[in-house]
Amino acid sequence: MSDANVTLQRHGAVALVTLASQNTLNPLTSALMTELGAALQALDHDSETRAIVLTGSPRAFAAGADIQAMAGMTYAHAVQDNYLAAEWQAVSALRKPLVAAVRGYALGGGCELAMICDIVVAGENALFGQPEIKLGLVPGAGGTQRLPRAVGKSLAMEMNLSGEPITATQALASGLVSRVVADEDVVDVALSVAQSIARHSLPVLLAVKAATARAFETSLAEGLAYERSAFHGCFALNDQREGCEAFLERRVPHFDHR
Ligand code: CAA
Repeated sequence: MSDANVTLQRHGAVALVTLASQNTLNPLTSALMTELGAALQALDHDSETRAIVLTGSPRAFAAGADIQAMAGMTYAHAVQDNYLAAEWQAVSALRKPLVAAVRGYALGGGCELAMICDIVVAGENALFGQPEIKLGLVPGAGGTQRLPRAVGKSLAMEMNLSGEPITATQALASGLVSRVVADEDVVDVALSVAQSIARHSLPVLLAVKAATARAFETSLAEGLAYERSAFHGCFALNDQREGCEAFLERRVPHFDHR
């Protein structure tokens, strides 16, 4: 891919997407988010890709929405353009598993982008925060909604109201990230997590992601009914038969993603 802000590398069934804007803090400009959305949507439709890793630079996963652009923004402009809505929708609509590999700053939109990802692997020096309050802003891409669901009310309130970041260790303890590793290992560990996902059946991966994401959208009864229906649906797949037969025959399954 030749886009300036986003690069793509293939690792078998895993794609590594890197935010690589000229400013290594990766401000999430409209151009960057448009490129990212297009890259992720293309991978979502690519039959060879079963999991995606999203990373930034060693200095920053991303330091948030573009403050330069927001400095001159008016209310009318923000509302008329539905600022941040469309570009971010392309990322949050992704159906395939998305693993964030976070090094350095994940602030504002950077933290919100990490929270859109299904799994977050953090470097030991990563910092997660919602500093929008310091700019006279409410978080605009999930900080008031995904953060409390991830870390609970008290810590989310503290982060959103104070604007102060938390460390990778605090992020691990609060459930915001699944692993903390040495900064230099973050991308490799995230790739290996993604490889462990990508060996499974694609339609089942899509169903597991959708059902798990449902837990944040609905009541327990409705979520359980959705899960039961997804579970029953698996019996229409060759891969379900192959997975169960391979277990009984003590061999590795060969999924054909049907
Ligand atoms: N948008 C645009 N430019 C940014 C930026 C951002 N989010 N973050 C940093 N930059 C720019 C700086 O203006 C600076 O530009 P110049 O070199 O042209 O002056 C350059 O990147 C380097 O930044 P610093 O000199 O500040 O670097 P530092 O190492 O001293 O500090 C930092 C790093 C702590 C990340 C600091 O840059 C910072 O606090 N950035 C802003 C973080 C922030 O407030 N994010 C929230 C944005 S609002 C948002 O995201 C809304 C939403 O919900 C979607």
